[in-house]
Amino acid sequence: MTPFRPVDGTLHAEDVALTAIAARFGTPCYVYSRAALEARYRQYADAFAGTPHLVCYAMKANSNLAVLDVFARLGCGFDIVSGGELARVLAAGGDPAKVVFSGVGKTESEMEAALAARILCFNVESAAELAVLNAVAGRLGTTAPVSFRVNPDVDPRTHPYIATGLKESKFGVAFDDAPALYRHAATLPHVAVRGIDCHIGSQITDLPAYAEATARMLELVDGLEADGIRLDHVDLGGGIGIRYRDEVTIDPRDYARVVRGQFRDRPHKLLFEPGRFLVGDAGVLLTRVLYLKPGDGHHFAIVDAAMNDLIRPALYDAWHAVDAVRPRAGAARHWQIVGPICESGDFLARDRELVLAPGDLLAVRGAGAYGFAMSSNYNSRPRACEVMVDGARAHLIRPRETLADLFAHETRLP
Ligand code: LLP
Repeated sequence: MTPFRPVDGTLHAEDVALTAIAARFGTPCYVYSRAALEARYRQYADAFAGTPHLVCYAMKANSNLAVLDVFARLGCGFDIVSGGELARVLAAGGDPAKVVFSGVGKTESEMEAALAARILCFNVESAAELAVLNAVAGRLGTTAPVSFRVNPDVDPRTHPYIATGLKESKFGVAFDDAPALYRHAATLPHVAVRGIDCHIGSQITDLPAYAEATARMLELVDGLEADGIRLDHVDLGGGIGIRYRDEVTIDPRDYARVVRGQFRDRPHKLLFEPGRFLVGDAGVLLTRVLYLKPGDGHHFAIVDAAMNDLIRPALYDAWHAVDAVRPRAGAARHWQIVGPICESGDFLARDRELVLAPGDLLAVRGAGAYGFAMSSNYNSRPRACEVMVDGARAHLIRPRETLADLFAHETRLP
């Protein structure tokens, strides 16, 4: 599946030229491919065909309602981390019975909303949270389905900001504490133990790290079983990486083979929480060159997208491919592709060999995950619009913010 490819010298999203999208909707603009979203979901789900499983899209990666809608129609579940994400799932027609709720800081009102919606499971991350959840469920006269997010203390060998399964991370309960917590949960009147959960990190390209984490989980599952605590599901989290540059990443079929081999004939339903894998390659950030500033050693291409639109390069030093939408002939230079924001960290890409002229359109690849979702209004810049292409049609799925939107919720002093 190559959703973004050149046709007659112009980069297209499916059957629509990105030049046409820029002309119609303006830039900066996020462009997603419906076919690419569907293909990635199928690739993941098909790898586990024949094994009882549920893919719960980690919607923090991209929570636009149209994206959720595409996945909901395919039968996908959702991994949420806030009441806001729950509201989005419901608004997009997602099935709350396929929702798992992760996060270290769930508030009582978020718990109430999730209980009222009858979600599949709370991934509980501390003993303190368990106590509050039990009380909230009791107050509502209901029972909360729970699993503990266990920290397997496995190194996912990824960027430190997105490694989450190490002992020193704030996430999950310690491996050694898990058995006692399960025994305690089994005595509480308003929670029902359903599963176990882990998530070791993000942009993982190392299959053995998964195998290690799964083995640790199974060690616990078997121990709990011996204690008479039977689980319905095991949630192995998300994290499979994508190729931003030259990474050799994990094929879901290989992952499935390893996991199946480890579970053998255990009866548990498998849950997964992929985010980036499902959406990352399905989106580009379309931006226009405003000015060229060639210089002594450093040549700057100033574009109309900035770190407020895509913060990954500034925050993680992440590398995103940048392609000219209509590559031109001429002498290439090594450009620093930067935005208009007043910070030196405001770059989208460094040292890219391109032939550029003012007004040219560029596509920043791999922008479907943690792109728009992490965008902000820094420097009072309206957030970009989002467009979803479906074959020959382009749908505006979120208009560009207006200047009035910027301070619509602010007031002057009386
Ligand atoms: N499940 C849980 C509990 C998570 O915390 C995350 C991501 C996922 C699933 C999905 O992980 P994925 O499959 O997308 O790797 N902003 C960073 C990534 C942060 C990931 C946070 N948690 C980035 O742009 O690279």
